[in-house]
Amino acid sequence: MNIVYTIDAVREQVKAWKQAGLSVGYVPTMGFLHEGHASLMKQARQDNDKVVVSIFVNPTQFGPTEDLDSYPRDLDHDSDLCESMGVDLIFHPEPSEMYVDPKAYVNIVGLSDHLCGATRPIHFKGVCTVVSKFFNIVTPDRAYFGQKDAQQLAIIRKMVCDLNIPVTIVGVPIVREQDGLAKSSRNTYLNDAERKAATVLYKSVLSGQTYLQEQAKTSPNIVVSSQSVLDVMTAVINEEPLAKIDYVSVVDALTMEPVETIDRDVLVAMAVYIGKTRLIDNFSYAVD
Ligand code: PAJ
Repeated sequence: MNIVYTIDAVREQVKAWKQAGLSVGYVPTMGFLHEGHASLMKQARQDNDKVVVSIFVNPTQFGPTEDLDSYPRDLDHDSDLCESMGVDLIFHPEPSEMYVDPKAYVNIVGLSDHLCGATRPIHFKGVCTVVSKFFNIVTPDRAYFGQKDAQQLAIIRKMVCDLNIPVTIVGVPIVREQDGLAKSSRNTYLNDAERKAATVLYKSVLSGQTYLQEQAKTSPNIVVSSQSVLDVMTAVINEEPLAKIDYVSVVDALTMEPVETIDRDVLVAMAVYIGKTRLIDNFSYAVD
């Protein structure tokens, strides 16, 4: 496995692979890697001849009061994990390698305004800008994104479609801790009491899933209102004193627009503060 720091070095390596007829899978990350990231690498390893991972804490996707400076970093651990997952190349650029007086941005309107976009207005513009730059640098055949960040995945799919970027986007299921908490680099911010309280997100997810499954079984001809499932889910979260809801929403799976009734494929998504740490979780629900 090789670690490179410059755009030219990535291009050179990928060019050689492509000339040899090899396929390239790509996993973008911000590092402090865990089993969630590893499952993306595993899938990429299975599908492609070569696997590239980028590790870059992207400044343009953090708001002025967010955790850019304190975001956890551990390159030694990350490179060990990548090595063990059979990654071929890590790209670990400095911000100055990625951004030189930038004037071009990629913004996917509409989908970026709801859910996390409502409280993090510049976030997805930063994500789309850096991911499209990485796509131009790595030129992968396939790129891997976690369903944990379901809105990000939907936005990236739309970006690739609208801008005709020649890459196949692969979504990978959420990896969870034993008690159901979705794995996240930000879980390290939680103290012991907060870590216990954080299980409330998954409890809420389960309550929503169970409610919808029961409704589909007992009253298959009645269209369920979004509010009814949200009531069930928010009640679970409100039982936890350390939890404060940012949002719990039911949105159209493709457009991310809020829906009144569950009459199509939806994403049920939440962001909840546990103390000062903002955590997210979600599930998809398909209407037959
Ligand atoms: P980061 O938070 O490091 O996540 C990198 C990828 O890992 C994302 O696609 C994310 O959805 C996935 N991931 C994280 N935790 C996961 C879990 N528990 N189960 C499954 N997948 C999980 O997302 C970003 O970085 C950045 O926004 C990035 C796309 C790299 C652009 O800067």
